[in-house]
Amino acid sequence: MKRKKGSGEDGGIRPFYRLEPAFWNIHSATWDDKLLLPEYREHLEAAVNWFAQYREGDENRVLDIGCGTGNYSIEVARRGFQVEGIDFASRMLKRARAKAQRSALKVRFSLVDFNKALPFPSHSFHYVVCAATLQCVKEPLRFLQKISDVLVPSGIFLVVAISPHLRSTIPGKASLWRRISWRIKPIFKAAKRIRRYRREELVDMLRASRFNILEEATAKDQSMRFLTRSHE
Ligand SMILES: C[S@@+](CC[C@H](N)C(=O)[O-])C[C@H]1O[C@@H](n2cnc3c(N)ncnc32)[C@H](O)[C@@H]1O
Repeated sequence: MKRKKGSGEDGGIRPFYRLEPAFWNIHSATWDDKLLLPEYREHLEAAVNWFAQYREGDENRVLDIGCGTGNYSIEVARRGFQVEGIDFASRMLKRARAKAQRSALKVRFSLVDFNKALPFPSHSFHYVVCAATLQCVKEPLRFLQKISDVLVPSGIFLVVAISPHLRSTIPGKASLWRRISWRIKPIFKAAKRIRRYRREELVDMLRASRFNILEEATAKDQSMRFLTRSHE
């Protein structure tokens, strides 16, 4: 099929594809301002506790996709899991590594573009976490298939998805830099680089990829979370 000049592989606008890691690198400086928001912390802890309840025996390998500054990776590692976080923004990873080190936790953080590949053998992980990241996935059904592949059969997959209704998560005390960087976001939406899903769309995608929904919740900021189990 002939592509329009200037368009990216998936129909988005090509220059934005190259700019994406740069956008997230800029965001890395202020991403953890989110930790100032009590509702973010509550949501994070609830999601991780929820997920940790399903731990069985020594099944403890976890992949955190789009780990950012490692907030989920670190909370999961604190509960004794062996975690690998992946992200394509090197500055996010730098902060994640520093935070894990400060907490004396061993977490592996690697530079990976999940829209290209998930470079892990089949059945490498017992759990996968994908928090506030699905909106950046180019081909969601293919992505979910890859997750199913890297998970062991009947593995656990936690999805935290930003609602299309979420307006702003900028805390009152957020730095000026964060306020500025937040304003860049609509440009990425317009360039089709960010896509949010309604609950029904998410449920359909998860079911089509043969994930069984075990539990579901909506946070105060309307972000949705699903705890699912992959097929056998
Ligand atoms: C909204 S942040 C969420 C960070 C973290 N999961 C959290 O909840 O704190 C989205 C993350 O996905 C990463 N990301 C976006 N597109 C990516 C891609 N194609 N490959 C790898 N990471 C990506 C960004 O760099 C960013 O760190």
